[in-house]
Amino acid sequence: MAEKTTSLYQGAVPVGGELGTSTSKFCVDDKVVMFSSVVGDALTPILEENWRRMNRSRDRRWIRNLAIWDERRGEWRYVGAMTRSSETPNWFTERGLVQNMDDAYLALQAGLFLLDQERRQAGKPPLSKVGMGFGIPVKAGENAADEFFSYLGTRLDKTADGSFMTIRAKNVATGEEVTTRLQLAFIAIQFQGYGAYMALLFGKYGMKLFNTYVIDIGHGTWIKLPVVDNEVDMLLADSIPFGMHTITENISRVIFEKSRQRYRIPEQRIMEKLPRGESRIEVPGEGIFDFRPVLESEVAELVDKVLVRVRQDLGELSRRGKFIDYFAVVGGGAPLVFEQIKRGIQRYYDWSDEVAEARVVQVEAIGVSPRVINSVGFMLLARDQIAIELGQPVEPGFAVSELITDELLGEPRDVRASGGAAARPSPPPPARAERQPRPAEPAAERKPAAVK
Ligand SMILES: Nc1ncnc2c1ncn2[C@@H]1O[C@H](COP(=O)(O)OP(=O)(O)OP(=O)(O)O)[C@@H](O)[C@H]1O
Ligand SMILES: [Mg+2]
Repeated sequence: MAEKTTSLYQGAVPVGGELGTSTSKFCVDDKVVMFSSVVGDALTPILEENWRRMNRSRDRRWIRNLAIWDERRGEWRYVGAMTRSSETPNWFTERGLVQNMDDAYLALQAGLFLLDQERRQAGKPPLSKVGMGFGIPVKAGENAADEFFSYLGTRLDKTADGSFMTIRAKNVATGEEVTTRLQLAFIAIQFQGYGAYMALLFGKYGMKLFNTYVIDIGHGTWIKLPVVDNEVDMLLADSIPFGMHTITENISRVIFEKSRQRYRIPEQRIMEKLPRGESRIEVPGEGIFDFRPVLESEVAELVDKVLVRVRQDLGELSRRGKFIDYFAVVGGGAPLVFEQIKRGIQRYYDWSDEVAEARVVQVEAIGVSPRVINSVGFMLLARDQIAIELGQPVEPGFAVSELITDELLGEPRDVRASGGAAARPSPPPPARAERQPRPAEPAAERKPAAVK
């Protein structure tokens, strides 16, 4: 039995992934791929022909032109960017929850396929056996992990040698078709936000355990995830349906009212401006409208909501005699709210500026963009799991050197993995226990369940 387990983990390449409301992120080695969390129409030969005729873009990368064979429905489906030209796009998560397992499975296949392509391009061996860390949304009282596992069980090929996934992909711009088959040695499922904790454990804490409160400001949701003594606090972890989407929606509404209900700016256009720090938008007939004041009041409202919940949790933890060592603010919305959240936490504890700087972590300092840090951390979770199972020390180093997105090449990218800026030296909290290799038997909320 022990030997069988060891051979299962031997040679497995660690990968990480999560399906966000707006974008899904996957990580292998030093690369992150990120594509829109959306699956489109069935790709008929006519649609495909039209796509090729209308496609003037010279961007022929897989991530931009991807269709995945949907075994269950017997059809090709657009995934990611291409879906924008689809009539019925299906966002596979809504308010952070997976809507349709078949679509989520396609996204998982798309992510693994794109990672495999990146490995090949980098001259590395293809992904033939993977161990995966996978982030799922937290929802109090729901067991999304179990549901996802039982679904996976119905889709993988189980043989005497293990569980396998066959992925058939088509590049609709070039017509190229590729089929790959890989062994899924295991999937360790954890809550989104736990990835950020793993990245800090590896990249900042030197594998020592520090209690960490993760705040993930996403598109459809924000997540609070206290990790205490290396375990997620199940009572306090939650995902709240309020995020950047709420803000862009409100800005769009204000502009509509200002234009006397004549002009509606697609939210997408507002969303695209935020990462560039732009706030001026042309409203036909009205001139340039600067939405900065609206943005600022929306952000202040979001920050207030977040801080109310955070303060409640800190009170509750303190009653239980627990103390948070570090706070991390992650997700695409982090750059907008970071300073204010830091100040709020500083006020709560009455910390000096120096202590607040040290305890509220800006994750760019460990060389990872806050938007993709969870996927990087889930790769580290898988790496950790493999090391534990093989009884080997885990390699703590990592660096993200490239972010590959489904944005059209040549367009400004909306996120970048920031190049490894040196971590800011900070007075460390009292040293904690060294990470103990976790038992092979999965803890309740951390299910490495080997897919056997
Ligand atoms: N630099 C930035 N400044 C402000 N907003 C940004 C920035 N980068 C991305 N965003 C916004 O963050 C949102 C996406 O964040 P993220 O990718 O974390 O969400 P998600 O994981 O898809 O959603 P969720 O976590 O709710 O499921 C988008 O609304 C985008 O406009
Ligand atoms: Mg997210």
